[in-house]
Amino acid sequence: MNDKILITYASRSGSTAEIAEAIGKTIAQNGAQVDVLPMREVTDLTLYRAVVAGSAIRKSKWLPEAMQFVQTLRSELRQKPFATFTVSITLAMSNTDQYRQAVSEWIQPVRLQVRPLSEGLFAGMLDFHKLPLTFDSLLLGGVVALGIFPKGDRRDWNAIRSWAEGIRPLL
Ligand SMILES: Cc1cc2nc3c(=O)[nH]c(=O)nc-3n(C[C@H](O)[C@H](O)[C@H](O)COP(=O)(O)O)c2cc1C
Repeated sequence: MNDKILITYASRSGSTAEIAEAIGKTIAQNGAQVDVLPMREVTDLTLYRAVVAGSAIRKSKWLPEAMQFVQTLRSELRQKPFATFTVSITLAMSNTDQYRQAVSEWIQPVRLQVRPLSEGLFAGMLDFHKLPLTFDSLLLGGVVALGIFPKGDRRDWNAIRSWAEGIRPLL
């Protein structure tokens, strides 16, 4: 039976994973069976009637395992209702059309593989305590110090739940 809905995510510091959990809870509210799983653990979609896939953004791209997921499973994904969500700090700077358009362009490689029914774009979280000390995180610290990216938890749970409610009838 393929009656379940899969919410799957790629996350490095956990903020996208928590958004996936919140989406899963909202979609399960009308009694649907939902699995929330990291993408690395998903190899077979036959159990699922619909898939919601989300990734954190790093350097203006979905995480590599998220792109890999879409590429590898594109034939199956094209046969099912499919929605995406994308988590970035850019949307914490501003949620205006200009910024949404920029973030939306980063998802074009996903669209070229499978066209989603809906695309959620959410502000994420920058918590330097949760980031390993790497060249990239130091660079990011500089961008925050310059006031370009904001830090802290910028997730808007009402926006996330409201998007999940909106896609529920499509899945
Ligand atoms: C190394 C690094 C690079 C990032 N690059 C971008 C970026 O190019 N654009 C952006 O809007 N956010 C960027 N972010 C912010 C993340 O998308 C944001 O912190 C997100 O909530 C992380 O999700 P996660 O906690 O699930 O890993 C970056 C974060 C890190 C740590």
